[in-house]
Amino acid sequence: MVRLSKCSVDKNELNAISGVLKNEFFGTGPLTKQFEDDLSKYFNNDNYSLVCTNTGTSAIQLAIQACHFPPKSEILVPSLTYVASFQAITAAGHKPIACDINENDGLLSISDAKNRITSKTKAVMLVHYNGHVGNLDEYYTFAKENNLKVVEDAAHAFGSRYKKKLIGSIGEIACFSFDGIKNITCGEGGMVISSDRKLIESISDYRLLGVQGDSKKRAQKKRSWDFDVQEQGWRYHMSDIMAAIGIEQLKKFEVSFKKRRKELNKYYRHKLEKNKNIMLFDTDLDNVVPHIFPIRLESDRKIILMKKLKENGIQSGLHYKPNHLLSFFKTKYNLPVSETVYPQLITLPFHVDLKRKEIDLICKIISHIT
Ligand SMILES: Cc1ncc(COP(=O)(O)O)c(C=O)c1O
Repeated sequence: MVRLSKCSVDKNELNAISGVLKNEFFGTGPLTKQFEDDLSKYFNNDNYSLVCTNTGTSAIQLAIQACHFPPKSEILVPSLTYVASFQAITAAGHKPIACDINENDGLLSISDAKNRITSKTKAVMLVHYNGHVGNLDEYYTFAKENNLKVVEDAAHAFGSRYKKKLIGSIGEIACFSFDGIKNITCGEGGMVISSDRKLIESISDYRLLGVQGDSKKRAQKKRSWDFDVQEQGWRYHMSDIMAAIGIEQLKKFEVSFKKRRKELNKYYRHKLEKNKNIMLFDTDLDNVVPHIFPIRLESDRKIILMKKLKENGIQSGLHYKPNHLLSFFKTKYNLPVSETVYPQLITLPFHVDLKRKEIDLICKIISHIT
């Protein structure tokens, strides 16, 4: 079986987890704090602070909550994203406004988003699809001109850079995911990083049921017993079991995972570049750490390809069904580019343990049907 995606762990993660089990302290504590400190070192910008959560979805929800927009504000978001981006917006009490994408890179179309601004629009969510961020300056200029906050859904973009700077160490607010298949994993997990220290302090409370200052206490294995709560909070903290995995994954990221992801992406591209029936989204491998490997091909052939891959024990996926086509987020308007791209999309296996000979086989199957 060639898996579509998977994590990659070894004895380091196993030892780290067994250390937590032996200590019999599973909650959020010193290891979560250590992981946060390690991440701060990685992002290496003193003007930014960060906080870890239990998922990427909760990271986005809490980041939006901390912006204190009026209830039911509108947030522009590309339709081509995981439903997590949309659900996080509604969970925070706001309305996702599905926007179309650019056909060349799958990212938010500014020209479409512009037309969807109303007096209720308070923010734009950029989704760094496949680690690619596009022209970030242009997105921030668009936001500034329209007085919108920017929330980056950087779930796919751990390690990606813009103008040589790490995503998360520039911009306003970036949210990452450390779920089981992300560029680094904690099993499940997430993080918000921002240049707004107060926003991160608020999220540190929200993730622990709004208990003021509890994050600091728990980092020292203490608890707040006599506390105040001033806002809605949630049980969205990271546990030390998750953090223990993340600490080990982060150590491997620059030296191993990042290189491997870029290398495999280049290899796939090299094998597919002469195939005129396959379309690939733009990327910039000098800066991007690719997270998935989506391709586009004519929809009838795509269905045949999925079948052939399956017959050969190769998994495939789809990133993503546009959210404005889901019942809960259905729009009264069409998004022509998203709707054109969606039936053509198929995601091929991509993870750091993928072998070149597996890519060879996948590309051979593709060449037979295209
Ligand atoms: C684009 C995008 N946003 C948000 C998320 C949510 O992250 P998590 O699964 O950690 O909740 C994901 C996860 O797959 C994602 O791909």
